[in-house]
This record gives sequence, C-alpha cells and structure tokens, in this order.
Amino acid sequence: KTVPASAVLMEKGNYRHFMEKEIHDQPEGCQHTIAAYVDTLTDRTRVEGIDFAGLERIQIVACGTSYIAGMIGRYLIESLADLPVDVEIASEFRYRNPSLRANALAIAMSQSGETADTLAAFRHCAQAGMKTAAIVNATESTIAREADVVWPIHCGPEIGVASTKAFTAQVSVMIAIAIAAAKARGRIDGAEEQRLVRVLLGAPRLIAEAIGLEGAIKDIAAEIAKARDVLYLGRGPMSALALEGALKLKEISYIHAEGYAAGELKHGPIALVDEATPIIILAPYDSWFEKSASNMSEVMARGGQVVFITDPEGARHAPAGAKVVVTAPGCDPLISALVMSAPIQLLAYHVAVVKGADVDQPRNLAKSVTVE
Ligand code: G6P
Repeated sequence: KTVPASAVLMEKGNYRHFMEKEIHDQPEGCQHTIAAYVDTLTDRTRVEGIDFAGLERIQIVACGTSYIAGMIGRYLIESLADLPVDVEIASEFRYRNPSLRANALAIAMSQSGETADTLAAFRHCAQAGMKTAAIVNATESTIAREADVVWPIHCGPEIGVASTKAFTAQVSVMIAIAIAAAKARGRIDGAEEQRLVRVLLGAPRLIAEAIGLEGAIKDIAAEIAKARDVLYLGRGPMSALALEGALKLKEISYIHAEGYAAGELKHGPIALVDEATPIIILAPYDSWFEKSASNMSEVMARGGQVVFITDPEGARHAPAGAKVVVTAPGCDPLISALVMSAPIQLLAYHVAVVKGADVDQPRNLAKSVTVE
C-alpha cells in the first residue's frame, strides 16, 4: 500500500524518521500502557484474565525484539513473584518437541500479532491444553484472536521496522505482570505492591529524561560509526538489553554487533577486544554493578574503548578510564530496563544516520515476518 507523501510528513511531525519519532513517543506510549494495567486511584495492579496464584509456570514465545522483552520479563517475574518463566525463540520452541504442562500459561509476545513462528509456537501451546495470553499491539491480529486473554500494549502503531516503542511498552506490561503475580502469590504485601506501582508510574518521566541524553549520544555515534565491530555487555536484565542494543545497531547501521552476558566475557568475546572495537557496557548501580565494573576494567586493560552507560551512583563508582560515561537517570531496578532502553536505541539510530542508512526500511528486513 502506498502512503501519500503528505500523510507521511504529517505523521512524522518534526522528525526525520519514524524510528526517531517512535523513540521520542516512548514516555507517552509507556504511560498509556501502564495506565491500562494499574489503578491510579489505589496504586494497585489490574492485570485481568489469569489467576497467577494457581499457575505453575509461564512459557513466553516470541521472535526478535519481542523475544528480548520476554527475557526481561523472565528476570522480573521470577525474582518478584517466584514463578518459573521460560522464554524461547518461537522457531526453536515449535520444532524441538518441548515438554509442556497444562497448568502453565503460554504468552505470545508479538507487536504485530502475525509473526508466523510465534503463531505456530502459540498454537502448539494451546493444543497442549495451556491457557494462552497475547501481548500484542495489533488487537485484531491472528494471535490476539486466538488467545484466551489479550493484554494490549497501547503504544500506538509502530512504523519503523526496528522496534522501539513497542519494546518498552511490552516491558511495561511485563513489569505490571511481575507485580500482579507477586501480589497474587503472596510474595509481596499490599504496601509493597503500591510502592512498586508508584515506581512503575514514575517510569515515563525517567524515560523522557533518558531521551534527553540524545545530544551526548549523537557525539558518541560519530565515533561508533567508524567501527567494524561493536560489543555490548551487561548483567541481569541488562544482559538482555545488551542483546537488544546489538540487535538494533546491526539492523539499522549494518555494523556487526554482539550482545553478551558480561560474565561470558572471558569465555570468548574478550578475544575480540582491541583499540578498534568499542565496548558498550550497560551497568546501572544495582546488585550486578561491581561485577560489570570489573569486566570494564578487564576490557580497558586490553585496550578496549569503553562506553559506560550507567546512572549517577554508577558514574561515581565506575573505574576511571572509560572513553565516555553516559549517565542515565537513577531509578529502582524494577524499571531500569525501561530507562536504559532510550540510550541504546538513540545510539543505534544516530550511528545509522551518520552512515546514511535507510533507518525506517533497513535492507532485507520486514516489519512483520509472516512466513516461517
Ligand atoms: C521483525 C521486526 C522486529 C520484531 C520481530 C518480531 O523481525 O523487524 O522489529 O521484533 O519481527 O515481530 P513481532 O511483531 O512478532 O513482535
């Protein structure tokens, strides 16, 4: 379908690309999403359709960036609600004869609700008698129609092929689910539920602040654009975000990038470290910080040029010697994946712009992959 140029211009507003606009849309997108899953009068969660207390496990199936949102969900749901979560790439899950149990909830995470592999994996779960929930942007999609429960992400249509605002909206739903499940399973009391909900409600403002780092990130992008390979490292939820950073960069700038759980550094990627390989380390001041900081020292000792993306407390405690320190706003670990997303998205975006790439329509990629 051809969209008239005037319509495209209007929709993009003052932005050069949909991706840039969608990065900037995130505070609002997340706010709409969060408002759908919490009650702002009582500061309680409102995730309807599933009895989390009676669940034995959750199986998330997804592809691409949606899979990474699921990985972040696993960290949050397991640690807060003590509910086992498996998250798997849909194409692998579907064809390996997974061992399924009926008393589990299958969640399909899919912006479009039409990704062929995710749909096939989801149907496989439904056939095994599992209850099914769909976290989708497109509520009229096939996956949404087939699900027992639909949890929409409410961030508005996403045009850029590389997902940004759908990702943070998906993570917002995961956070609401983690809080709701923790409460339903008696792992937190009502006061803690309210505290966590207030933290979540504060996320859009902090995402906006993080987007405010754009100027600083633009300067870094000019350097990164010269690299042949880029390495992203992080621990905990930041290990998933490291994957997302690398995925975004390779998708739109065509620079080879790899994301790694920082603990794996010594098991391979450290061999790549030299003066020409920028290493982006994602490390807010959380329980993993000391370990990430020591990885930072290890790569710097080998000549690695580190871009350290952290928060104010992390910037104070970081080992000296990073090429650049990007200081994102400090926040509760519950929402750090939301707050740290904007810097890595903006970095990929500005590197692609420097390289003159077609940001919204990267080569060989499709917004929605409807063939297996
Ligand atoms: C394609 C898109 C990605 C997206 C993935 C999964 O690869 O380019 O941005 O994350 O599909 O799409 P879905 O619609 O299932 O979330």
